Amino acid sequence: MSVTCLKNWLEKQVSVCPLTYAVILSIGAFTLARFLFKTWLVFSQTFIFSGKSLKQFGAMRGAWAVVTGASDGIGREFALQLGSAGFNVLLVARNQAMLSDVASEIAERTAGRAESKIYVLDFAKKDTEAFGGLKSLLDNLDVGVLVNNVGKSHVMPTYFAETTDQENEEIVIINVDTMIRVTHAVLPGMVQRKRGLIFNVGSFAGQVPSPMLATYSGTKAFMSTFTSALAEEVWKYNIIVQHLNTYFVVSKMSNIRKSSALVPTPRAYVRAALSKVGLACGAAMTERPGTLTPFWSHALLDYLIHVIGWKSAFISYTHALHKDIRRRALRKLERKAKSQ
Ligand SMILES: NC(=O)c1ccc[n+]([C@@H]2O[C@H](COP(=O)([O-])OP(=O)(O)OC[C@H]3O[C@@H](n4cnc5c(N)ncnc54)[C@H](OP(=O)(O)O)[C@@H]3O)[C@@H](O)[C@H]2O)c1
Repeated sequence: MSVTCLKNWLEKQVSVCPLTYAVILSIGAFTLARFLFKTWLVFSQTFIFSGKSLKQFGAMRGAWAVVTGASDGIGREFALQLGSAGFNVLLVARNQAMLSDVASEIAERTAGRAESKIYVLDFAKKDTEAFGGLKSLLDNLDVGVLVNNVGKSHVMPTYFAETTDQENEEIVIINVDTMIRVTHAVLPGMVQRKRGLIFNVGSFAGQVPSPMLATYSGTKAFMSTFTSALAEEVWKYNIIVQHLNTYFVVSKMSNIRKSSALVPTPRAYVRAALSKVGLACGAAMTERPGTLTPFWSHALLDYLIHVIGWKSAFISYTHALHKDIRRRALRKLERKAKSQ
């Protein structure tokens, strides 16, 4: 159809049925306005606006920040930066020596102003007594911030049929049960004090299904939905619950050692997260209440995925990527075995 034909056809439609035309035009205008507003929101929240001040959650007033998986990677950095921001910090993980190093660094950075406590616990063991000890400790602290950071992924991308029961169970216990149990232990105190911030460290794998990491991907999707539901329940008590939508970050878990535009260091990632409390950044207007994609390049990627809206293409891309990662990981293991 030529442009003239199309013009004539449209003019005919307008004269025959002006109301239909007006409705179609209004829907088009609304869709365009919504898209432009969303784009402005994503860019301004990511690059310009600051989030809520941490003082609102008790920083500099003796409140505690609790960080699970605090001995390494993203959790370690949350512990250090929350200590510097004026919280006392409770550090939880398995490796006592590494936790002590983090506690010493907090003391050094804050010239002893921030207190640290260490609780050594293997969440995968589901040890009722050990968890009871953590709960008693939490009951006696004024917790302003909880970072549910501890997480476990598959050793390498593997088809679900070939994953072991033990790996699947540990992933569910660490990523789901632990988040629920620690949150449940901390929340009543926050409700009573009418203030709190809970960050649940999630993953893009929970937003775009990740073949060959099916169990991990499913647990992170659980985290996202759980966050949205809980956030709605408790906002009236001045408690903010946010799911941190994370792409790759340099760490032991990601097995990436060099940072790049798309893969920040834990320090840069956590700095972004703590400066955007209460905002959505890349997750703005995507029907995921409570989700925050804080790091700028992750935010732009999240925005693009939702603008293009073609998730199945991203699933296929991720599948191909994971096949390649598995091939390389197996080759590395083979080389290692030969050299021994
Ligand atoms: N890095 C990424 O690219 C990326 C991307 C998306 C999402 N995430 C999420 O970010 C979070 C942190 O990941 P990360 O990359 O920082 O990992 P990491 O560097 O491997 O650190 C994991 C932390 O969890 C602790 N931990 C592991 N298993 C534990 C257990 N059974 N009981 C108690 N503590 C345990 C580890 O300490 P111990 O060994 O001392 O116990 C360590 O402190 C995870 O939830 C992960 O899913 C990471």
